Amino acid sequence: MPDMDELKDAKQYYNDMPQKTEGFFLKGSNALDWGMKNRLARIFNPESGRTVMLAIDHGYFQGPTTGLERIDVNILPIVPYADTLMLTRGILRSIVPPATTKPIVLRVSGGTSILKELSNEEIAVDIEESIRLNVCAMAVQVFIGGEYERQSIINMTKMVDIGTRYGIPTLAVTAVGKDMARDARYFRLATRICAELGAHYIKTYYVEKDFETVCASCPVPIVMAGGKKIPELDALTMAYNAVQQGASGVDMGRNIFQSDSPIAMLQAVGAIVHNNEIPEKALDLYQTLKNQS
Ligand code: 5RP
Repeated sequence: MPDMDELKDAKQYYNDMPQKTEGFFLKGSNALDWGMKNRLARIFNPESGRTVMLAIDHGYFQGPTTGLERIDVNILPIVPYADTLMLTRGILRSIVPPATTKPIVLRVSGGTSILKELSNEEIAVDIEESIRLNVCAMAVQVFIGGEYERQSIINMTKMVDIGTRYGIPTLAVTAVGKDMARDARYFRLATRICAELGAHYIKTYYVEKDFETVCASCPVPIVMAGGKKIPELDALTMAYNAVQQGASGVDMGRNIFQSDSPIAMLQAVGAIVHNNEIPEKALDLYQTLKNQS
């Protein structure tokens, strides 16, 4: 019997203590549903409000990228040091052990290769597949100013609609074509369009000038894309500047897995993102961890 009479006097209702109604820690996300928030809280650390995503989805349009030739050998050992793993369903199913507790951001747009026009993508994964794979977010490429701009935007809005039905957030990835200017003006435009049309968070490149205006004018969290491999100190400085100027973390690929010590690099980036470590100190950490390994 769960409610026996003689125990009633012992009940305590804390009448003088109003129940707390807490706001959600992530920018622009307070009005989302519980499942959506719960997934975002697995991607973004609720303590720091930030994330270190490891992007290894390059193969979906460019094949076996340097550093990703053998994901089982080169990437699985470094996964524990990232907060989140961004990849395709093919790699997830064939290589990542299902016992992993790492939050997954699944690449759901595709259909093009480096041999053709990249912006001509479609949605390439059913929502049922994202549910089956228990993902925390779905990533869609958006080509603002690209040849198939409209199609890529509609890909994203469709995923926002479908994902909202099941509580799965959509990450809009702002893609830059070869001939497009990479400046704050362009990224303000691209990120704002994605946010206005419902993306739950947005990945965009860092720009030296006025990046803080990109973050300020985007009403949902921004994560910084890594881009091509640059020296470790430069990559750490870029990550530092991005989070100090308003980004809620990073989604880096080549600057991690093409580094001499990906595990050390992930931890150095983590120190910057979660602990506001300065780039020079983070580089020291990188060198120390690299020498130990
Ligand atoms: C392509 C992507 C890739 O996942 C990712 O951005 C590549 O990562 P990096 O540039 O850091 O190697 O989203 O647009």
